[in-house]
Amino acid sequence: MKFSIFILLILAELCTTYKVLVFNPAFGASHSNFLGKISDILIDAGHEVTMLIPVFVDGKKDLIGSKKVKNIIRLGQDPRIYQMQKEGATEELMRKKIWTMGAEITSMLGFIGNFSKTSAYQTDYMFAQTELIEQLREEKFDLGITESLFLGAFSFFDEIGIKTIINADSTLYMNGVKDALGEPAAVSYYPGLFSPIDDKMDFFGRVKNLLGYQFGMWFSTVKYDAEIGALPKSYKGSRDWRKILSSVAFNFVNSNQYIDYASPSLPKTVFVGGMQVNTKKSGKATLSKEWDEVLSKRKTNVLVSFGSNAFSCDMPDEFKNAFLEVFASMPETTFIWKYEEANSTLANHLPNVKLTTWMPQNDILADDRLTLFITHGGLGSSVELAYQGKPAVVIPLMADQPRNAHMLTRHGGALQLDKTLLDKPSEIKKAIETVLNDSNYKKNAQRLAKILEDQPNKPKDVVLKHCDFAVEYGPLETLNSEGRHLNTFQYYSLDIAFAVLVVFLIVLFILHLIIKFVFRLLKRTLLSPKKKVD
Ligand SMILES: *[C@@H]1O[C@H](CO)[C@@H](O)[C@H](O)[C@H]1NC(C)=O
Ligand SMILES: *[C@@H]1O[C@H](CO)[C@@H](O)[C@H](O)[C@H]1NC(C)=O
Ligand SMILES: *[C@@H]1O[C@H](CO)[C@@H](O)[C@H](O)[C@H]1NC(C)=O
Repeated sequence: MKFSIFILLILAELCTTYKVLVFNPAFGASHSNFLGKISDILIDAGHEVTMLIPVFVDGKKDLIGSKKVKNIIRLGQDPRIYQMQKEGATEELMRKKIWTMGAEITSMLGFIGNFSKTSAYQTDYMFAQTELIEQLREEKFDLGITESLFLGAFSFFDEIGIKTIINADSTLYMNGVKDALGEPAAVSYYPGLFSPIDDKMDFFGRVKNLLGYQFGMWFSTVKYDAEIGALPKSYKGSRDWRKILSSVAFNFVNSNQYIDYASPSLPKTVFVGGMQVNTKKSGKATLSKEWDEVLSKRKTNVLVSFGSNAFSCDMPDEFKNAFLEVFASMPETTFIWKYEEANSTLANHLPNVKLTTWMPQNDILADDRLTLFITHGGLGSSVELAYQGKPAVVIPLMADQPRNAHMLTRHGGALQLDKTLLDKPSEIKKAIETVLNDSNYKKNAQRLAKILEDQPNKPKDVVLKHCDFAVEYGPLETLNSEGRHLNTFQYYSLDIAFAVLVVFLIVLFILHLIIKFVFRLLKRTLLSPKKKVD
């Protein structure tokens, strides 16, 4: 009898597996890896994941971000996007310009205009796949997961009958999502996604942060409106992007509260930053023989990588020479340099330099023999180095990287170096030596890693529990904040302040009348005896 109850319990457990569709556009490695990792967490828990990969950037079409997903549906690219990206040579242009263009977001204006257009084309293209839509509808998915970068994905989920959606942003806060949820942006003390200054802002710093926020809002609005404009007439769902985004079950952000600045958030916002990192303690970060040998050669090992979007081989020659000069002056240190040109002879004269087109970054960072990480400060790399407790020199190139840089330096384990100094070997060397000479960098980095290891809620569990919960209860209306319906005057109680001001002025006016009246009366009574004397 007991045994059959046990069987029933197991059966019940099996029945709780659910079907998830992950919409993971081929756009950039950091985006794919993030959604891929969420997929892996769900697969490890026994759930059934299907990944839909529409190609957004042709050069990225092979990205999956996961080794575990078996059900993959690839969807091509709208030919108009292909044409535009080829004509604009967007990828190559971006890769070359990235080293010298201004790090501030406004320098990307030109790309952003094209981004809205291409997003609209892709929405149009997706909704034209009637057969696929039919096929996906039959699958009856329990949950859809995607990123707010493409609003069209949310409408597409709706079209195939998915009722419960989780927005999973591979970035820190997106302004559009914050606005849609009615979450305080706290621009006076919380540095926005693209803010080059930290949370101690003077007047002009706050002006900059506010303008940055408005810029982000403008970007979201233009892009979302373009995508909504591309929805077919037959589509019956909402055409209000704020409503679409606030109807999600949860909003995952790739931020970790123990690394990032403190900020107010609503219950739908869930911090998952760090769920993607395997630490040594988890037993999953191990090195192959090849890399083990590289790290064994010298006592000091430095890893140099600028991520997957900026290529070291596209650097201006002055930058390359400056790095080589520094490497040559430190023969007792091994430098592993991510350099994307295969079999390059650039560093053949330097036995302490290993060029590589790829390396297991996280596993190398997890190794005790790695001394220092020189990085562009992409969010993925920033979180990895924080978890692995490695001191770093951060050289932000663009987008959110300047913000990630000061987010890391705040913890005392990293030093920021301006990319305009990369043609000066002395500056690069000074930065490296400063971090190596002062043991506080290492101490602070290791302390942050320990904090992350011991944080009360493990990001991986947080992801799984919130997915389970979303499938069980759907999007809870009660988690929505009424704040999202208020206008700016109501939101900041400016209408009340105005009313108070009006009342105050009226009182002041009445007082003025009374005083005037009393004064006149006094004058009359003081003057009238004189009259009597007369
Ligand atoms: C935008 O796309 C057009 C082609 O439609 C191209 O000529 C232009 O260079 C692109 N702009 C940027 C900044 O990529
Ligand atoms: C680099 O060298 C390897 C082996 O020596 C060879 O297989 C590969 O094709 C080379 N790659 C390029 C781009 O030359
Ligand atoms: C670091 O220490 C070395 C050796 O003690 C010294 O030569 C170098 O000037 C120091 N560099 C910095 C930037 O402190």
